[in-house]
Amino acid sequence: MSKNKGLQERTLVLIKPDAIQRGLFGAITSRFEHKGLKLVGVKMIGLDEAILREHYAHIAEKPFFSGVAKFMQSTPVIAMCWEGLDVVSTVRKITGITKAREAESGSIRGDFAMSVSCNVIHASDSIETAEKEVKRFFKEDELFGYDKSEYMHVYGEDERVL
Ligand code: PPS
Repeated sequence: MSKNKGLQERTLVLIKPDAIQRGLFGAITSRFEHKGLKLVGVKMIGLDEAILREHYAHIAEKPFFSGVAKFMQSTPVIAMCWEGLDVVSTVRKITGITKAREAESGSIRGDFAMSVSCNVIHASDSIETAEKEVKRFFKEDELFGYDKSEYMHVYGEDERVL
């Protein structure tokens, strides 16, 4: 396997328990596929206390933390690592804002959810966070490099060599 060069930004997406229960994994994943992003890692995982506390350290003091923790442990989640040009900001845009009932129509949360907690997916919010979150959920040998043949129709020649 060889890698497409120059498009190495990566981001983490978690398919949350509400999406698992509602059978939305395929519909959500197809949004990323149709956008032209490259899936480089995917796995189902039950979140233990340690990973949950680390992942949600920034909301640990919020009154809703225990509710988020209970919800995120109510089923396994599906962790995905997506790669592409400016993929962190692109995925955040496709995801839509946290308060799903006010998220823009056409975004994943805007089209599939109503809640601030049951908002179907998590997506890394910055390049720095994405690097940490991808490492949190994936070992190096669980991430794959391969040439995506459709890239010649997804990116312009100049973008493929950035
Ligand atoms: S985000 O999407 O990370 O920018 O959102 P943020 O506002 O930082 O919220 C972090 C996670 O906490 C959840 N959240 C809430 N749950 C319940 N009640 C309230 N009021 C609430 N506000 C935020 C939200 O679903 C975020 O989860 P992630 O997994 O980060 O999307």
